[in-house]
Amino acid sequence: MNKKITIAIDGFSSTGKSTLAKQLANHFGYVFVDTGAMYRAVTFFAMQKGYVNATFFDKQALINSLSNIKLQFKFNTDLGFAEMYLNDVNVETEIRTIEVSSFVSKVAEVSEVRSKLVEQQKEMGKDKAIVMDGRDIGTVVFPDAELKIFMTASASTRAKRRYDELVQKGDSITYEKVLKNVEERDYIDTHREDSPLIMADDAIEIDNSHLNRKEQFELVLELVNEITKTI
Ligand code: DC
Repeated sequence: MNKKITIAIDGFSSTGKSTLAKQLANHFGYVFVDTGAMYRAVTFFAMQKGYVNATFFDKQALINSLSNIKLQFKFNTDLGFAEMYLNDVNVETEIRTIEVSSFVSKVAEVSEVRSKLVEQQKEMGKDKAIVMDGRDIGTVVFPDAELKIFMTASASTRAKRRYDELVQKGDSITYEKVLKNVEERDYIDTHREDSPLIMADDAIEIDNSHLNRKEQFELVLELVNEITKTI
């Protein structure tokens, strides 16, 4: 494939967006960007500063300190993908905890946070050859992306996948708690005022409840090949 394109992957939490995005980026030699990691890193920053906890969110304090947040992705050659750095510190592990997952949707509702991150995301994709995953990539960040995928799967399938991942990492969590978090995030992500999670009109929907990683990857590979033939 010689024509470089932009691939936008949106969808519900724990649908395997990042897994697919990584596979595509590796296959085509594209840059992979997990925008959820950026919202998670801002949330982790807010937690460290005491701006957010289970009962409290000082939105204004977070907005006032946005200029003190530096986010970078640095490629880890051993892992084969880029890790998230917050103010020069690797926070890849810290941002994946259930605590961050339970506050991140609140933080992602803040328009000032969204504009800062969207601006950085647009900049990363200005030369195309990028696979970016998130919630608003096909609708807001790259409305002109050549390929837009929208991923879905039932909440129970997604919670089971996330639960297995967390248990494997040694987290002692219950399946019910993970399911509740998935459902709460779905609700907030689809109901927020600024850039709610919706499928772009020209996106292709993939329900992967019954697809394995390989089948899904092959399906999307076919779509990319079709598109690059026509442009
Ligand atoms: O993809 P993820 O589950 O790691 O994303 C974490 C949260 O970040 C998710 O609940 C919603 C928010 N998010 C967003 O609002 N917009 C994006 N482009 C990516 C993530």
